Amino acid sequence: MKGIILAGGNGTRLHPLTKVISKHLLPVYDKPMIYYPIQTLEDIGVNEILIISTERDLPLYQKLLENEEWGIKFYYKVQKEPKGIAEALILGEEFIGKDPFILMLGDNLVISDSFNKHVKQAFSNNDGATIFGIETNNPSAFGIAEIDGDNKVISIDEKPANPKSNIAVIGIYIYNNNAVNYAKQLKPSKRGELEITDINKMYLEQQTLKLFKIEDARWFDTGTIENLYEAASYIKSLDK
Ligand code: TTP
Repeated sequence: MKGIILAGGNGTRLHPLTKVISKHLLPVYDKPMIYYPIQTLEDIGVNEILIISTERDLPLYQKLLENEEWGIKFYYKVQKEPKGIAEALILGEEFIGKDPFILMLGDNLVISDSFNKHVKQAFSNNDGATIFGIETNNPSAFGIAEIDGDNKVISIDEKPANPKSNIAVIGIYIYNNNAVNYAKQLKPSKRGELEITDINKMYLEQQTLKLFKIEDARWFDTGTIENLYEAASYIKSLDK
């Protein structure tokens, strides 16, 4: 089972912490941030992971992970510039091959007893794309999914000014290998990035997009100092 973790980007919202080091190497309580998505993928049963990061930071990930006792084979790929999350699908083409895979953002932490079980199940039932949603009280900050009573996705909007729901699409996505060809058809958005929301919309058009709504989890997007701090305190409280 294959997974991709995106650990590049600029991390500008965490400056100056991320001026000389990748966001995903920063500590979240007692571990580097990237350990959490790796752990999630390992628990789901992923045994091959492609780590994508910048030219500057990729060697640090190799150093960090080479001596760890993960039951995982790691692969590494440079993203020359932060051209968007969906570029991972193009960079991962060779790694993906013909297989389905899970894409995870390196700054997304999901803490839950049942989440891994749900993702595993979703992976075996996936025949297009499966995304995961969680209720938020700050919908204008995220990709927002509007769903019907059967959790079928009706629309997805990136950081909407007038959100149609409060269900945020979190940074873990299950795709079949069509995602690679979809990504190759993308044009950069107004902010100059290949948007993962546009990939999800392509699956939506083909009516092969499912959303799993998570009810019993804490989710942190640790891209801001408030969230980074909150995630660390929450994990500390669990540790106790
Ligand atoms: P973001 O948090 O959207 O971007 P960022 O990490 O550059 O932070 P900031 O907005 O503060 O500048 O990225 C979400 C995740 O995806 C994060 O783990 C970094 C990763 N990412 C890449 O690896 N490459 C990219 O081109 C982008 C845009 C993000």
